[in-house]
Amino acid sequence: MSINELVEASKEAREHAYARYSGFKVGAAVRGANGRIYTGCNVENASYGLTICAERNAVARMACDGERVIEAVAISCSEGRPAPPCGACRQVLAEFAPKDVPLHIYLVSDEGVETHTLDDLLPNAFRLE
Ligand code: THU
Repeated sequence: MSINELVEASKEAREHAYARYSGFKVGAAVRGANGRIYTGCNVENASYGLTICAERNAVARMACDGERVIEAVAISCSEGRPAPPCGACRQVLAEFAPKDVPLHIYLVSDEGVETHTLDDLLPNAFRLE
């Protein structure tokens, strides 16, 4: 499955963002080990702290489908610049990241796609095993 498909899915998810307070729309797409793509957008709330990030929504949809391994992630935001995942989302991605292979995280911008790994973004991640 191509990176492009994941990137396009993140852009499409961004269109559904509920960013009523910040105006900053984010879309995320995760590909599970089952080959399926799960998308999420940020969903804000009048009680600001209850806002849910796009990445965590996408991961939650994957987990609800019974998938437990993320193979790749793409993230895009409405400003057309790379939007690295927040610290909380990095930790949630780590929960479902494969142990032995780098998890690629593609940050979409107007200029193209930046490739990172979860290990670059969250070195020495906390894990229970
Ligand atoms: N946001 C995400 O969706 N993902 C992140 O990793 C960082 C921030 C959202 C939350 C909020 O709706 C908006 O971006 C501004 O912080």
